[in-house]
Amino acid sequence: MNARTHHRSTKPRMGLLLAAVLSFMLAPLSAAELESSIARGGQLYDKWYAVIDADAPKASHPAYPAGKKYAKKAKSNWRCKECHGWDYYGKDGAYASGKHNTGIKGINGMAGADTVAIINVLQDKTHAYAGKMDAADFTDLANFVSRGQENMDQYIDRASKKPRGNAVKGEAYFNTLCAQCHGKNGDQPKDMKKTLGKQMGNPWEVMHKILNGQPAEQMPALRVLDRQITVDIMAHLATLPKKK
Ligand code: HEC
Ligand code: HEC
Repeated sequence: MNARTHHRSTKPRMGLLLAAVLSFMLAPLSAAELESSIARGGQLYDKWYAVIDADAPKASHPAYPAGKKYAKKAKSNWRCKECHGWDYYGKDGAYASGKHNTGIKGINGMAGADTVAIINVLQDKTHAYAGKMDAADFTDLANFVSRGQENMDQYIDRASKKPRGNAVKGEAYFNTLCAQCHGKNGDQPKDMKKTLGKQMGNPWEVMHKILNGQPAEQMPALRVLDRQITVDIMAHLATLPKKK
């Protein structure tokens, strides 16, 4: 958007037709840049300090409620996902109960919001991220919050946790896109604690990571592909062994 307005304002003396052709050509380019910014923002949302190769803060996040499970775990309670959830619904989603419950609302209310307004939220006293990340990081986070949130209920049945995908198609996608790193059984790399089959116990986390990649790892982000590919892959993952 910013990039687009900028490009459009640099065409003062060109004819209308040329301008139209140019903006047609420029639009996909800025869309492509936006997609990679959103994916990086999604990884920052997951574990920002790993993405920027910083140490996690030592003191707990000021907004994390005392008495809740991760109150003394700064490494966890500074992650956006810890308060707002993998499904982005906070207390109204998967974190409505269980050890990750904080009672904090989701970020879904700011989907589509102006990125400047989102950055202001992240730098306010409640969030206290000012000085912890740079301008590019905040832009990526804001692009993710504004443009990168999925309505996961469309793809995952909340009650059964089943992805609404085709496992047969998903197997072909998985074996060609993922298996070189994760093995056909989803039990690689060796240092990965849970198999991908086991991780389907939290399908929202899996979907977030397939779309945006894994912080500080060589994992691609499938955000640019049709959502159904991700959902088909997840349907296949659910059939893989839960134990190594
Ligand atoms: C320790 C808990 C905590 C963490 C971590 C946290 N937030 Fe929040 N966030 C909150 C609380 C509490 C609110 C509600 C504040 C309010 O209403 O004044 C909020 C509100 C928001 C909102 C506004 C939602 C709305 O509809 O008004 C956005 C957007 C947001 N957070 C994004 C993020 C992002 C991005 C990160 C990570 C960089 C993050 N938050 C990390 C606690 C947290
Ligand atoms: C280039 C290698 C590579 C490719 C390709 C790749 N991944 Fe990954 N992925 C990784 C690495 C490395 C990790 C981090 C593993 C760990 O936690 O030790 C990871 C982590 C994950 C995680 C989160 C695991 C966790 O512990 O939180 C999921 C889910 C995942 N990958 C799914 C996939 C799927 C599905 C595909 C195919 C669409 C895929 N990956 C493609 C390298 C890759």
